[in-house]
Amino acid sequence: MKAKPTATHVHLETFGCQMNEYDSELVRSLMKQDGFVFTDDRERADVILMNTCAIRENAHNKVYKHLSELRKLKQQRPLVVGVLGCMAQNLKEELTDVQPLIDVLAGPDAYRQLPMLIRNAMLSQEEGLDQKGFAVDLSEYETYHDVIPDRLDGVNAWIAVMRGCDNFCSFCVVPYTRGRERSRDPEGIVQEARRIAEQGFKQITLLGQNVNSYRYGDWDFAKLITAVADVPGIERVRFTSPHPKDFPPSLLEAVASHPHICKQIHLPLQSGSDRLLGLMNRTYTNKEYRALVDRIRTLRSDIVLSTDVICGFCGESDEEFSETYRLVEELRFHSAFIFKYSERKHTIAARRFPDDVSEPIKTERVTRLFNLQRNISYERNREYLKTTVPVLVEGNAKRSAEQGMGKSDGNITVIWNKRAISSQPGDIVSLAIYDASSTTLYAESPPVHESSAPRPPQNHFGKLRSKTEHF
Ligand code: 5AD
Ligand code: SF4
Repeated sequence: MKAKPTATHVHLETFGCQMNEYDSELVRSLMKQDGFVFTDDRERADVILMNTCAIRENAHNKVYKHLSELRKLKQQRPLVVGVLGCMAQNLKEELTDVQPLIDVLAGPDAYRQLPMLIRNAMLSQEEGLDQKGFAVDLSEYETYHDVIPDRLDGVNAWIAVMRGCDNFCSFCVVPYTRGRERSRDPEGIVQEARRIAEQGFKQITLLGQNVNSYRYGDWDFAKLITAVADVPGIERVRFTSPHPKDFPPSLLEAVASHPHICKQIHLPLQSGSDRLLGLMNRTYTNKEYRALVDRIRTLRSDIVLSTDVICGFCGESDEEFSETYRLVEELRFHSAFIFKYSERKHTIAARRFPDDVSEPIKTERVTRLFNLQRNISYERNREYLKTTVPVLVEGNAKRSAEQGMGKSDGNITVIWNKRAISSQPGDIVSLAIYDASSTTLYAESPPVHESSAPRPPQNHFGKLRSKTEHF
């Protein structure tokens, strides 16, 4: 009798944003259809894939570090190594020259070819050849509309409603790694939302590099998010990210009035200086951004706002940084992701403007802004003391299985003692807040192992940053 061929085991690691997490779900789906089996155990894998991010240098360095760890594994046994996503796209020449251990490169629009590329690489290894498989072309049409993502269990499901970006912010590599903007068919999205609800997910996060420019026939993003939020069983719908330049009133109306659309908006600011906003090609001014925030808060004062800021962009003077600092101070976001400018190859900024703010000055500015925002976040979170907050239960807190963890409507983490409050993942429970740090609300009774004394602002931003980036 012929021995049954053993399955090929694949280990997939994901770096970067939510869009990459979503893409990994597409990759798992496409590869499982082709007979591949996924494993969490790197040691057991015949194929190791890394879905990569190219947005800043540190994301890039992380991938290089992982690659060099694989060198040893590859010397010990037959192994196919694949780099997927934005780095594969952007650094195709460099990655293959520098890292001969890579067998397969597949950019964000090439995942359908991945099973074939991997099988070819395996065959080539068996034959003692070392042929590489590359698929890095960008597409104007690929939306993977017919691929059902292989989602992990949980309360949240992502749907990418569009791919690519046409904004060409001068610092940003995304238009080069993910290509032109294209919107996915809304009927398919709503159908997928229904399936997601039937599977028991309670929350959907709609993803796109700039959701405001979603267009499909007569559908815009406001119409789409309303249709998704109307799907029975879906309790919460979030989206990320809109661009401040073309925030449609209809979307604001939908956020303000639909009971299932979360009262939360991530609105990347980047800088408070008009000169820098111009150089960044953001196409709004400090005044216009403030007017938008004002409009949002006038409509509903309970909308939770978060933002992204870049410090040390090309030519940023002390005074220009101060404009950003003062704007962040004035607008009092609930949270902010604060980044040092990191020059990326191919971008407009890399081609036109010198990266001339020194590293120590970038660090100093990031630290100052970070400290300011940490205090604001602390004060903002303490506004919830003695109020009752509806919380979507996600599971256990990271630090202790005795604590439950969930999110408020505004996406703020809430933690409680499970002995005092019993709940299941997916429940929405009303919890009274008795304490708050700059990142967390504490509900009802003191968490096990911790004192109930009000805690000072804590530095958790690093952790949060990687969790909630918008691409
Ligand atoms: N350097 C630093 N931060 C960047 N971002 C995008 N590109 C860069 C870069 N080259 C930040 C922006 C964006 C967030 C997701 O990442 O603030 O909104
Ligand atoms: Fe597009 Fe966002 Fe990058 Fe600007 S920052 S180019 S909107 S992905």
